[in-house]
Amino acid sequence: MTEAILLVGGKGTRLRPLTVNTPKPMVPAAGVPFLTHQLARARAAGVEHIVLATSYLAEVFEPYFGDGSALGLHLEYVTEEEPLGTGGAIRNVASRLRSAPDEPVLIFNGDILTGLDIRALVATHESSGADVSLHLTRVEDPRAYGLVPTDATGRVQAFLEKPQTPEEIVTDQINAGAYVFRRSVIDSIPQGRPVSVERETFPELLASGAHLQGMVDSTYWLDLGTPQAFVRGSADLVLGRAPSPAVPGRCGDSLVLPSAGVAPDAKLTGGTVVGADAVVGAGARISGSTVLDGAVIEPGAIVTDSLIGAGAHIGARSVLTGAVIGDGARVGADNELRDGIRIWCEARLPDGAVRFSSDQ
Ligand code: GTP
Repeated sequence: MTEAILLVGGKGTRLRPLTVNTPKPMVPAAGVPFLTHQLARARAAGVEHIVLATSYLAEVFEPYFGDGSALGLHLEYVTEEEPLGTGGAIRNVASRLRSAPDEPVLIFNGDILTGLDIRALVATHESSGADVSLHLTRVEDPRAYGLVPTDATGRVQAFLEKPQTPEEIVTDQINAGAYVFRRSVIDSIPQGRPVSVERETFPELLASGAHLQGMVDSTYWLDLGTPQAFVRGSADLVLGRAPSPAVPGRCGDSLVLPSAGVAPDAKLTGGTVVGADAVVGAGARISGSTVLDGAVIEPGAIVTDSLIGAGAHIGARSVLTGAVIGDGARVGADNELRDGIRIWCEARLPDGAVRFSSDQ
């Protein structure tokens, strides 16, 4: 049975302030910590032993997931003293692996939501005889990603990190953050110092003549690194567009956790999640948004494509679009918050303090 490493130690800076108190993989998506979906999908593909490589806010993972038996898994945790980067983190957990030198080990970035056929990636790895195999996906604008051009047989030709000029954009195939490594390749990564698997390990392997194989799988794929993407991913899980065996309830227009209180005339649409003990007042309209545990949405508020942190408070008639509200923040009544705004944890915004329209 193939074992796996999950990289969950990043600081998640692009997702702040949601990652101030919570590491990115533990931010709830569709009602459970995002990592639950990845663990459940790996289990469904036959993986039983998973090592979590932790660093930032490392102490919160084990109390929640324990030994993994609730998910039918055997989980182990390894914490870096100093962050070692993606490659260093992989090397740092090598002593916990059970695979023989030539056997395959799966590696997943901890912030990717995808319908990838995990078994097919392992099968591609084994049939091609590669040293490392990578899941590749196609995106319209590859500038924020690492490009991975391949030849007609799928063999990787180059790694081009975050290309900018048109000449550099030679393909629309990007590194999708799931790999299979031959075990002995993991052991060859330098130990005890930060290493980037994307910028260092992959290019060096290629230069030394190693066989790196790409598998393009164009199923659902989303990098949940930014607030907009995170809220989209959570909504897609609720709507059933993104596959996960771990959504706690039936897929549909919204997901309301059992202890939440939603007014009968409030409208929840577009994959909205209302977390445990959260309250949604009369006439509120919430679309495509995530309301975390214990948050309060006052009557008449309109919340679209937004993330409301745990215990945050949104005042009556406030209108939020594409906003991120940190844990415990209080937005007063009659505010208007738009795309990209981030209200920090515990911040206070008085009634009517921010407006884009002049009508009141
Ligand atoms: P940003 O700070 O917003 O870029 O997010 P990030 O810190 O998560 O970085 P990035 O998205 O590039 O990381 C890809 C994956 O590797 C994520 O699952 C991270 O949790 C993980 N990761 C990044 N750096 C480290 C590290 O130093 N140690 C460990 N264990 N994991 C890491």
